[in-house]
Amino acid sequence: MKVKTQKTIADVGRILENHINDSVNKKTSTLNQRVPELIAKKLKLKERLKLGFKSSEDILDFVTNYLDNTNHLNHPHYMGHQVPVPHDLAGIPELIHGTINNPSSLYEMGPAGSTCEGFMINWMLDKLGWLEDRDYYDFKFEMGHPSGVLTHGGSVANLTALTAARSSISPDSWNYGNPSDLVVMGSASAHYSILRSLSILGLGKKSFVPIPVDENEIIDVSKLEPIYKKLIAQGKKVMCLIANACATSTGLFDPIDLMGDFCEKNNIWFHVDGAHGAAALVSNKNKKLVKGIEKATSLIWDAHKMMRVPALCTAVIFKDFKYQAGAFQQKGSYVFHNNEVVGMDSMAYTIECTKSALGTKLFWAFAIEGEKAIECFIDYTFDLCNNFYDILIKDSDFEVPYRPQSNILCFKYIKFSKEDEFQLKLRYQIINNKYFYITSCEMNGIRYLRVVLLNPSTNVGHLKELIIEIKKIANILANK
Ligand SMILES: Cc1ncc(COP(=O)(O)O)c(C=O)c1O
Repeated sequence: MKVKTQKTIADVGRILENHINDSVNKKTSTLNQRVPELIAKKLKLKERLKLGFKSSEDILDFVTNYLDNTNHLNHPHYMGHQVPVPHDLAGIPELIHGTINNPSSLYEMGPAGSTCEGFMINWMLDKLGWLEDRDYYDFKFEMGHPSGVLTHGGSVANLTALTAARSSISPDSWNYGNPSDLVVMGSASAHYSILRSLSILGLGKKSFVPIPVDENEIIDVSKLEPIYKKLIAQGKKVMCLIANACATSTGLFDPIDLMGDFCEKNNIWFHVDGAHGAAALVSNKNKKLVKGIEKATSLIWDAHKMMRVPALCTAVIFKDFKYQAGAFQQKGSYVFHNNEVVGMDSMAYTIECTKSALGTKLFWAFAIEGEKAIECFIDYTFDLCNNFYDILIKDSDFEVPYRPQSNILCFKYIKFSKEDEFQLKLRYQIINNKYFYITSCEMNGIRYLRVVLLNPSTNVGHLKELIIEIKKIANILANK
């Protein structure tokens, strides 16, 4: 098949533009869940795999059908997961990367991508107050100075940071396995990737010591000291303490400042899981939420949550490059060079060997409209969530357990039932109606409906419509 590349890309661009406009203007459903067998037939997967696309028209037919079977994030009623609506032009770095394929873990394989990564890491260090007197164009990794790398997602970033923490307290683990006395302290509501990382590292899930939380699942700092003393008395070694910034389910922040003080006093590695909430650093209004974050030894920060970067792109940042350098104690003769190379390689410090041009799409998300636009976006979503709380709290049919600190809110519709099962049924019926996409989660073992507001076209009017939709569906369910 011969296709004209530029024309095909332009045609795909037009289809995408229509897709976005139809979604924003609510001319489509938010999500239309069809079974995979049906989608596979529509996309002619078998035929196209065997024979390939027949023509440009065939490619466009695939794209159109593909988009028809997607979750329409641009729809103002999309308020489901912590996956943002990217800027309309956010796909351009992905198009470039997908066309030229320059992975950015080895500088010589992708000099421009690696440079964008180094630059954006320096920008992040600056936001943390960790850039010191260095310039954004100072790309050297140096012992005794903060550093960071980009990696494919928060789960991989947590594993990377915890590997570094283990190397710090138990340097021999890499070669000989773990001693049995290592434990990790943190909130019971830590993201599941934390426990998964501990199991992957061979420490076992049971090495996690959950610190009691309050009714909103925020760590009770008064419990840190007694639990720590007990662990020490039992002969345990605390590998690190982990703070939620913020918690995945509630969007609420642990008391980072106080936890940081505790770690400083007891010389414990302090890991801040800022996958969602570290982005508050970008906002003058909201950075108070992460007060004390600079006390972290390691920190993760997802750009593909609050900074409108298409998935995936996460930074894992260390207070001292020595921790980043110590995480993985391996050498591969064909990839890990010494100082004679131009530029900087990040490959020695990541789980991935080959990695996408992550820094480019991170830079791009800011460059499209400038830094202020991302700050305004973050503030807008946080304010919108507060407005939603103010509306819900006045309605006795709803139970809302807390005032949101970010753009995530859990609530229940209690007119007919407070039961978990009713909330679950309600949520499924809402998404089956295709008009709204929301999620649900458990808080302290109790099921809630949940919204994550990170769609720039969602406004208070849409949230009022959601309330009407919930009431309508609950009525039908209750009268069945
Ligand atoms: C607090 C927290 N940590 C880690 C993760 C995992 O991030 P990712 O989905 O990028 O792997 C999430 C995802 O929701 C999260 O909320």
